[in-house]
Amino acid sequence: MSSIVVIGSINLDLVATVARLPSPGETVTDAVLSRFPGGKGANQALAAQRLGAEATLIACVGEDAAGVEAQALLLEGGVDLTGVQTVTDLPTGTALIAVAPSGENHIVVAPGANRALTPDVLTVPDSDALICQLEVPVDTVAKATQDFKGFICVNLAPAMHIDVSILQCADLVIVNEIEATWYGDSLSAANGMIATTFGAAGAVLSKNGEDIARAKPPRIEAVDTTAAGDTFTAALTVALVEGQSPEESLQFACAAGAAAATKLGAQPSLPSREKVETLM
Ligand code: RIB
Repeated sequence: MSSIVVIGSINLDLVATVARLPSPGETVTDAVLSRFPGGKGANQALAAQRLGAEATLIACVGEDAAGVEAQALLLEGGVDLTGVQTVTDLPTGTALIAVAPSGENHIVVAPGANRALTPDVLTVPDSDALICQLEVPVDTVAKATQDFKGFICVNLAPAMHIDVSILQCADLVIVNEIEATWYGDSLSAANGMIATTFGAAGAVLSKNGEDIARAKPPRIEAVDTTAAGDTFTAALTVALVEGQSPEESLQFACAAGAAAATKLGAQPSLPSREKVETLM
């Protein structure tokens, strides 16, 4: 079993399912409100664990009820949470999410305690692979990727300015099509593989400007695409670290991402390995 350490965010997701997403300045009513554990880091850690890895999460939460609620499924799923710190001066991160019947969403994040995961409080245990995203300070991601010995995956979400060293250190960079456009030519500084996802149209894996694999997800009825990208990130890392080929790994990751879109909520939707293999 491979070991994966995730450095990243923990959020409590407040989800409004609504007949259609509002335009700027518009109010849409009659939504139904739910609460789910989320945060890209937490989702990726739990997804990796459910897909068969031994996951450890390095993160920060506030000293509040939301912090406990946000960690409930991680705890139940067996993710190692000994590296989760509780800070007293910031609230647990919160994500405000609107989901339309098509499964599309709008997400606004108030990072709160995730901002407290600064380089000076960072300790990264040895493991086979490291996964980072950008919902914690970018300096922390830069330090972790420079220090870590093992396979490094960086999911460049949400899009923001980063130190080029992150691209140079990563074995695998993952972006969705919106992020790929935002980063543009700067992604050519990446030394490793780049996976670009295109939702229901699938994903492409490239290296040094050459495509090395393409895959399409199985057809599914999308209910909520929240955490589909996090599941794709975890699945691609798990499969590559297991030694699967780029083609097999990309196919597995596309199926895992699709499976995560079939259920409402970030962490309740993260699929087991069996579910992904059945879907494939
Ligand atoms: O990627 C999905 C996640 O983004 C949600 O769970 C939300 O918390 C935001 O961080």
